[in-house]
Amino acid sequence: MEHRIIETHVNVFHFTELEPEIQVLVNKAKEQYQKSYAPYSRFNVGAAVLLENGALFEGNNQENAAYPSGICAERVALFYANAQFPDVPVRAIAIAAYTNGSILERPITPCGACRQVMIESQTRFNHPFDVYMIGRDEILHVADAENLLPLIFSEQALRNS
Ligand code: THU
Repeated sequence: MEHRIIETHVNVFHFTELEPEIQVLVNKAKEQYQKSYAPYSRFNVGAAVLLENGALFEGNNQENAAYPSGICAERVALFYANAQFPDVPVRAIAIAAYTNGSILERPITPCGACRQVMIESQTRFNHPFDVYMIGRDEILHVADAENLLPLIFSEQALRNS
């Protein structure tokens, strides 16, 4: 048996260390969770996407009485951005969440489906992007969404290459 180790790289920031453009993005994600529709989980998530042309798109989780019909904040924001600007790569996404009366203490880390969608959005433009995951005190950052999902299912598998 061979044992392989897959490394990932995560940075930890405090808000004041972020560049101004990213501070704006973080604040947009926090604004967005306030508009989320989450009557079932009462877990409110906001996401903000910055495109390489400077355009900003925001989204939040949208739940449904038929639970699986709902969708996460990250996918709302990313699909919205990619739908409006199908030729413009993403530069960064920021994610924030709120429950039980406060922003999450530990940074929100996206679900597997959203990681998969983020990576597709990078791959289609051949352009890795930054992911900022916001917590009460700390902000986790990866410079490439692939750091969030090793051994991803990719279109290479479909081509068997
Ligand atoms: N949710 C998101 O919007 N993003 C995440 O990264 C994790 C989970 C939503 C889905 C559901 O509406 C609620 O949070 C609880 O899982």
